[in-house]
Amino acid sequence: MRPVYILGISAFYHDSAACLLRDGEIIAAAQEERFTRKKGDADFPARAVEYCLGVAGITTADLAYVGFYDKPLLKFERILETYLGIAPRGFRSFLMAGPLWVKDKLYIERQLRTCLEYSGPILYAEHHESHMASAFLPSPFEQAAVLTLDGVGEWATAAIGIGDADDIEILRELHWPDSLGLLYSAFTYYTGFKVNSGEYKVMGLAPYGEPKYLDLIYEELLDLKEDGSFRLNQRYFDYLGGLTMTSTAFHDLFGGPPRVPESRLTQKEMDLARSVQEVCEEVMLRMARTAHAETGLDDLCLAGGVALNCVGNGRILREGPFRRIWIQPASGDAGGALGVAQLIWHRYCRQPRQPTPGRDAMQGALLGPEFSEDEIEAFLSSRGAAYERLDRDELHRRVATILADEKVVGWFNGRMEFGPRALGSRSILGDPGSPRMQAQMNLKIKFREGFRPFAPSVLRERVSEYFELDTDSPYMLLVAPVRQERRIPVAAEARSLWGIDRLNLVRSDIPAVTHVDDSARIQTVTREANPDFHDLINEFAAVTGRAVLINTSFNVRGEPIVCTPADAYRCFMRTNMDHLVLGPFLLDKAAQPEWEETEDWRTGFQLD
Ligand SMILES: [Fe+2]
Repeated sequence: MRPVYILGISAFYHDSAACLLRDGEIIAAAQEERFTRKKGDADFPARAVEYCLGVAGITTADLAYVGFYDKPLLKFERILETYLGIAPRGFRSFLMAGPLWVKDKLYIERQLRTCLEYSGPILYAEHHESHMASAFLPSPFEQAAVLTLDGVGEWATAAIGIGDADDIEILRELHWPDSLGLLYSAFTYYTGFKVNSGEYKVMGLAPYGEPKYLDLIYEELLDLKEDGSFRLNQRYFDYLGGLTMTSTAFHDLFGGPPRVPESRLTQKEMDLARSVQEVCEEVMLRMARTAHAETGLDDLCLAGGVALNCVGNGRILREGPFRRIWIQPASGDAGGALGVAQLIWHRYCRQPRQPTPGRDAMQGALLGPEFSEDEIEAFLSSRGAAYERLDRDELHRRVATILADEKVVGWFNGRMEFGPRALGSRSILGDPGSPRMQAQMNLKIKFREGFRPFAPSVLRERVSEYFELDTDSPYMLLVAPVRQERRIPVAAEARSLWGIDRLNLVRSDIPAVTHVDDSARIQTVTREANPDFHDLINEFAAVTGRAVLINTSFNVRGEPIVCTPADAYRCFMRTNMDHLVLGPFLLDKAAQPEWEETEDWRTGFQLD
């Protein structure tokens, strides 16, 4: 029998992506930004589609269905009603945004058909259904409560549902304009970071601050109910009518205009970040409790942009009512492509789902392109790069020794990750035991704000030796404290240090991955999910005694994670990375020919 191919697409909002299923199995998934090198690329994911079809060796004529991750008409209706509701104030931005919406969103079907040259069936899911499907259908659970939290989809901004066997059902929704994602984005904007990508920075900044504005937020901005639902006081926001996130009333309330991007961070931004983060965690916890009460189930699945708030996820795990939680690694809109495809397979095609306990269907999120030894070598020779080929064990031994010597290594191996985190296929690695490593990697390699903490990748079987966690966190979406006995008490005089100066204090025996509140954003690595990365950490443990590595995404600030050997080599040469591993090849920076910044290298590559 011919296999059934389903192509899921998410596009035209942010972070476009494609995902291909063959008889229900995920065989490929990738975000468009990785190919076009435009961060968060929202255009039709032509290159991602081409990649997915290439993995299967098919054309669009072989597709049984195409799924789109939201319903354009519903979204259009919301836009229209919103603008009409607040006219004339909203009229200006309607004029600016309206024609774009009409052109791009209303005629999605025509666009899909033209771009794909496809005449078969196209099915649409609602935005939150796509997120919910992506949270539950690939999860290891037979039944689970499902919580999706988002900026905004169509009308729904958050949803509680139930996943049972091969389908999901939405039980409750919170509607626009009351949105936790947008509240967080408003503070992201106000503290001078980029909306839709800077939220992570706000979360990273939060532990430096005090929750000074907590009461003010609850009194003025947000009327939070016991069940986690809330109303936002729209007086303080401007995303309905204006072209900015926050209104002048918001600025008056918090004592001034938004921070100018890239200007010096002050204690105020840290206190704001801490305050909105605490509000976010409280809402997440209350919603999780409601999801538990409504479903009576012990397991929880999470997706939607806010599910990338791994501090909040960690609190749900520790303080919430659920026994286990599973979080979709591509929790943002990219994951909607996967959700809608799986929904078509299970709901529309009525195919049963057979979850494996303890094991999800995401294959470690390693669903993107990979490159053969021959392809990598052809590239390296074409650039005149200096490299040596090592067999697997020798490579791991050498890299472990290099890392132990406080060198930074770019690690490019196997299939690229789907979702925003690097999980050991497109990663930059370092020794978390080195007290200098955090500042060095932030400033010399990533060219990014020094306050941002790095994440540890730890052997799953040894996670509880290092952290107060003994569960899987394969996608780096849970934050937990570093174990008490590993922490180093901070001297009394150092306690008075202000804000970012606290960064350089050594707080544990793995200081580079210990945040200022003694927490860490953990990835647990199993041999099953990524044998090479697992064996490398094991080898590093043999050399240093530490079964943990710093794992940060292989890119510099403002750039998408690298996809190809060429992307990786370029990033390697443009930063102060010491060594690069491309498949079986090891490269030493000192041995490379001089780097020439030619036009073709510069395309799509900016340091912002
Ligand atoms: Fe979304």
